Amino acid sequence: MGILKQALISCVFVAGVAGASDDVYREYDPLETYEPNVAGDRKHSNTYQYWMDPKNLDWQMAGNPDENWKLNWKFMDPPFNPVVHGGHFAEDRGETLYKKLNTRGRFASCLGATKGNLKGLRASYPRYRAELKRVVGLEEAIEICAKRLGHQLENGSYDNSAVSVYIASRSNGMPIRIDVSKGPMKEAWERGRKLFHTRAGRFNLACSSCHTHQVGLHLRGTVVTTPYGDVAHYPVYRTRYQLQSLHLRFAECNLDTRTQPLRPGSGAYTDLEVFLTGLTNGYPVSVPSERD
Ligand code: HEC
Repeated sequence: MGILKQALISCVFVAGVAGASDDVYREYDPLETYEPNVAGDRKHSNTYQYWMDPKNLDWQMAGNPDENWKLNWKFMDPPFNPVVHGGHFAEDRGETLYKKLNTRGRFASCLGATKGNLKGLRASYPRYRAELKRVVGLEEAIEICAKRLGHQLENGSYDNSAVSVYIASRSNGMPIRIDVSKGPMKEAWERGRKLFHTRAGRFNLACSSCHTHQVGLHLRGTVVTTPYGDVAHYPVYRTRYQLQSLHLRFAECNLDTRTQPLRPGSGAYTDLEVFLTGLTNGYPVSVPSERD
């Protein structure tokens, strides 16, 4: 091959690589009626009418897989679900681990608990951690704080999620309340919103392709629900997979749609968590919850 031709080919190749490393074009799947609280759900999902008044809850509906998306599963969670399941054992395990880590109170204060009181902590995560200069979810904070005390509680592991369920249980019934109106939390919310609507993967689907456009429709054995209120019951006990953190649920949806999943605690998953937690503002923390 002539030198000139070879140079030309490598030039084209380099140009191609340079192009790829720029912002890759991805189709945006717009639906911008989201608002970060329950009112957004009322406007957007059209399921509010079914569960706004617990007095009107229709238990036939809850037990019917074709119908229960209307409740978005919200009322299958505590205090409505009295059944003992693996999530309760996880909560016990989490309590044991938590007490071991917190013998001197340093674990709780690292997590941001005031005077060791866990009440309300779950409802205020994800939050901006000034010393880390970024926003972190509760599970990532658990990993970081355990590490500072010389213990490994990897984000996504059973034990990490168990501690998270225990901590969340101390806020049961309290509405999730994060402020996404300013600063780094707003930036994370905006990035998460963009990700939620951006198509990716082999099937070229965005999260919103299903969770916005297909709500109430069947996807194989399941019926897709709205993203509102989801975060309030995580980590969740899955009868198929044991305990699942929110980031592992993202990974499952990514895998299902042939999109490269990311590590729990990655920046993109944390941004998605902030977005979905914004959409959960006002919903009460309800753990331990169960999904099949
Ligand atoms: C091919 C359709 C599809 C896509 C795309 C998809 N999901 Fe899902 N997702 C589902 C189905 C089906 C379920 C199970 C039924 C339900 O809870 O909605 C689910 C469940 C979930 C849940 C758990 C809901 C609960 O109540 O526990 C979360 C959170 C979630 N998805 C987030 C995402 C995010 C974030 C993305 C984008 C990264 C995404 N999903 C992409 C189909 C999809």
